[in-house]
Amino acid sequence: MEHILTADQFKELVLQANLAPSVHNVQPARWRRAPGGRIEVIADLTRALPAADPHNQDVALSCGCAIEGMLIALSAIGLAGCVENMANLSAERGDLAPVVATIKIVQGGRDSLYPFMAQRYTWRSAFQPSQPTELDALQSWDHRVSDATVTTDPSAIAMLSVLNDKASLRFMSEPRYRAELVSWMRLQKRHSRYALDGMNLEALHMSVFEGIGAGLVLSPSVFPFLRRLGLASGIVSEDKKTTSVSAIALFHRPREENRIVSGRAFYRFWLKITELGFTGWPMAALADDEATNQTCCKHFGIPEDHQFINAMRLGKVFEQPQVRARIPAEHLIWESE
Ligand SMILES: Cc1cc2nc3c(=O)[nH]c(=O)nc-3n(C[C@H](O)[C@H](O)[C@H](O)COP(=O)(O)O)c2cc1C
Repeated sequence: MEHILTADQFKELVLQANLAPSVHNVQPARWRRAPGGRIEVIADLTRALPAADPHNQDVALSCGCAIEGMLIALSAIGLAGCVENMANLSAERGDLAPVVATIKIVQGGRDSLYPFMAQRYTWRSAFQPSQPTELDALQSWDHRVSDATVTTDPSAIAMLSVLNDKASLRFMSEPRYRAELVSWMRLQKRHSRYALDGMNLEALHMSVFEGIGAGLVLSPSVFPFLRRLGLASGIVSEDKKTTSVSAIALFHRPREENRIVSGRAFYRFWLKITELGFTGWPMAALADDEATNQTCCKHFGIPEDHQFINAMRLGKVFEQPQVRARIPAEHLIWESE
């Protein structure tokens, strides 16, 4: 039986789907209702990241997260979705808004991860110490999850922290990468897109003064100078925060898998972390830097037929989730009136 969503239902579903994480909070997924009770998912490639993500891997992962978010949101109203016709975004050139998938709506039951969509968020500061029993929960989880390798070993965490800082510094030293990242940072509250997308002061866990300082330090005239003085590594370093975690999970998926499918799994993995009572902070530099990726795969025994996609710092946080910057529904829904 066809399920035709009303405009109000669709708007609510899109808003819930858009709570999903996305690289730099670019929120690339756009939505339209299609004939036959289907939903079309479109990637707005004007929001792609050519310097950091030249093959649209992160855009595909982010669209996958949003698609999974849509399926979980549908489950809350007794529906489910079959994802069909997935595009390969790495091959996308020129077309600025390809349809990346179609969702066929069918009957379904409630997804147990639904309550965690509103609770999940990225925490970018130090974590609180966790109890040994909480660590047990993470370790036993590792054995059950085939696409995540979890370490709670302090020496392995310290090693990953050093590798992450070195890889981040390499990326940050590239002017194009740095400029692109800064263009998605909202370092001043008066930024016109402060509450809409990108990473604002609350998301970055920065004060107003730290925001002004970061804008200066990352500018093209100052950063290279600091790098020559050997000061850039200290500025880029996240070591104190990284080593405060309870665990780091390395998320990996079959090498040949469409990254939209990997993104769906990545979101479920993150929601599961939330369900376990932990908060996450990705460290994509470990996976994005080719040499570091290989070092991690070797050290942690990631199967050869799997691709290491992202690492996640996991820890305890006793603060309320922040209000997240998100684009309003009228810009996410691409339907002609
Ligand atoms: C594929 C992917 C990679 C990400 N990599 C990083 C990362 O390396 N560092 C980071 O701080 N956040 C990373 N994030 C988190 C996003 O920046 C975050 O989801 C986005 O800003 C929205 O914020 P929220 O997660 O609090 O809703 C990543 C998210 C995705 C989907």
